[in-house]
Amino acid sequence: MTDKTIPRPIRRLDETVVNRIAAGEIINRPANALKELLENSLDAGASNIQITIKDGGLKLLQILDNGHGIRREDMAIVCERFTTSKLKNFEDLSNINTYGFRGEALASISHVAHVTITTKTADSNCAYRACYSDGKLVPAKPGASAEPKACAGNTGTQITVEDLFYNVPTRRKALRNPSDEYNRILDVVNRYAIHNSGVSITCKKQGSNQSEVNTLSTAPILDNIRQIYGSTASELLELSKSFRKLEFEVHGYISNANYNLKKMIFLLFINHRAVENASLKKTIESIYTTYLPKNTHPFVYLSLEISPQNVDVNVHPTKREVRFLNEDEVVTAIGDTIQERLASANNSRAFLTQVLNYKLVRTDSQAQTLDSFWNPDNAFNKQPKDNSRNLSNSLINNNVRSSNLKRKRERFDVRLTSILTLRKRLKEVEHKGLTELLANHTFVGCVDDSLTLALVQHQTKLYMINYNVLSEELFYQLALFEFHNFGFIHLSVPAPIRELTIFALESCDHYESEDLKPKEEISQIIVDQLIARKEMLLEYFSITITENGELATLPLMLKGYAPNLDKLPTFLLRLGTEVDWETEIGCFETLSRELGLFYAPEPPNFSNISTSIDDNQFDNSMDICDTSNVNKDNSLSSSKGKSLEKETNSTFTEQQKKAEIARYKWQIEHLIFPTLKSQFIAPKSIAENGHVLQIANLPDLYRIFERC
Ligand SMILES: Nc1ncnc2c1ncn2[C@@H]1O[C@H](COP(=O)(O)OP(=O)(O)O)[C@@H](O)[C@H]1O
Ligand SMILES: [Mg+2]
Repeated sequence: MTDKTIPRPIRRLDETVVNRIAAGEIINRPANALKELLENSLDAGASNIQITIKDGGLKLLQILDNGHGIRREDMAIVCERFTTSKLKNFEDLSNINTYGFRGEALASISHVAHVTITTKTADSNCAYRACYSDGKLVPAKPGASAEPKACAGNTGTQITVEDLFYNVPTRRKALRNPSDEYNRILDVVNRYAIHNSGVSITCKKQGSNQSEVNTLSTAPILDNIRQIYGSTASELLELSKSFRKLEFEVHGYISNANYNLKKMIFLLFINHRAVENASLKKTIESIYTTYLPKNTHPFVYLSLEISPQNVDVNVHPTKREVRFLNEDEVVTAIGDTIQERLASANNSRAFLTQVLNYKLVRTDSQAQTLDSFWNPDNAFNKQPKDNSRNLSNSLINNNVRSSNLKRKRERFDVRLTSILTLRKRLKEVEHKGLTELLANHTFVGCVDDSLTLALVQHQTKLYMINYNVLSEELFYQLALFEFHNFGFIHLSVPAPIRELTIFALESCDHYESEDLKPKEEISQIIVDQLIARKEMLLEYFSITITENGELATLPLMLKGYAPNLDKLPTFLLRLGTEVDWETEIGCFETLSRELGLFYAPEPPNFSNISTSIDDNQFDNSMDICDTSNVNKDNSLSSSKGKSLEKETNSTFTEQQKKAEIARYKWQIEHLIFPTLKSQFIAPKSIAENGHVLQIANLPDLYRIFERC
């Protein structure tokens, strides 16, 4: 211990120590460094920014842009502290329209990492490359010159940051989890990628050919949100309002009352800068509590444009917090705007409070279904007594909801022209009105246990929908969009294709043995055909055919949903008879159509459920697991596997029948209709063939009821 009674001499700190301490304030983890680099690229007017990361940014952070570049003569000082091209005098601060202005970021980074800059301006004949350490130019190799070296390159800048915090061991120790750091980086990139419509931003791990973020320079904000957060976008309400007195405007997208998350996603921009503001966040959260189930949260993207004179961005070196004039009033005004927007979007719900008095219909997903009125004992609509099923349902339910926002697993980028063409065709025959109707519908209930009809409400109109026909098309579309990216449904015992196709042929009315080849021969042809194509089936469709001619897995088309295995024999037979195995596009189209037919739900049929297939030979229970998903959810696979077990050998007791019907209806309401809402491109043929019929205009109905 030093003697505290004797004063020690005051010394001036060494400049590198000062700089390193200062650097720590701005750059305390890879995500901060990336934010600074990204902002510099945007300040340089880039329309294309490519980010590459290794080990959560600790090993490598690289950013390549097509901005205006750095002049050769500025390269010597670009990494020195307080050197900037963006601010000349203090007055400029009140009118700043660039992210940077302090000239500290590159300097800070160069004090805690090895920095290499390669850059070219439009009027230079070549690019220049230079290495930096502690703010100064350093030779790339010992003994070489430190001066920038001419090299080939396009206009723009590439900055490489290697071995972040190599000289700050305590920091390095504190950042031991690269995947955590990578997620923080993605969070920063997501925000900027969404907000900067007009700029294409990609982000990937080094060595991977899959980008985690990949927005297009032509995409509007809503498409960027869709690219990053999936189908969330279909549940968003647009917000746009200006406040002349308070001198600000707010634009944004907020989730509606039908959508919720375990954790709030709040993307806030003030004058295009990604910032945080605790009081605004709290206000928004409290508004949503009246709209969302307990402990669930909204998605909110807000962009505020506040008169620059009223904003102080210079509160903190990281500029993460900003202060603005009349903060309380501005927060209240934004809160009111959100409140109004939610209330107006929920008109139909307010309407429904009145309707629920009649105990007739509902438009709110939390409310009861029609079935619960018809069948009050229904264990599914009341508190389920069967805990395992309850657990399984809630797991699936959560999964369906959260999967939208969970970071997507690494997906194969499908480039096959055949698939891209088939996807494009969907748009060519789209009936936009019907897509919109489905995107904004409210499920009312299934019409009958034995029919594939359901009622939905759209605005004030009631429609009857043949969901079997819609589902065929839905699963066809899912097959095209999930192509090469399916998870797996494992059959607990592989299904013998030969026996099942013979069984299908025997049950087929049109099969006349005199005219056709013997059943056994047809079945063998089908088995051989499938074995010959097993690599393709596995790779693109997650269909596993074993060497012995058994079917071991099916594609997981929709999380938590499995097809009715009664249709499996017919599906296998039709793979042989209906699929065009000759051309690529023909094969993918017809095979996807067959998947559509197979996966489309049909009400359980208790009369012919017991088949002649020996139970020991083919136990048709399944484990659903998305094995290609990095966030494997084992609990889902095991609990769901159980709940899907079906009995084929015995007759059903009344209770089993009820449970089976309830399970089936649960899938329709919680899996099929939400997907029709979020992902379906309605074809004209469905709109024109009477599969969606308007059956009532609610205001007229209420008038009638009021008279009763
Ligand atoms: N990607 C880039 N493209 C063009 N110029 C850049 C880029 N990154 C940095 N610069 C130049 O380097 C300077 C210093 O950057 P920085 O340290 O982040 O400070 P600031 O952004 O506050 O000016 C900037 O003012 C800019 O002139
Ligand atoms: Mg900067």
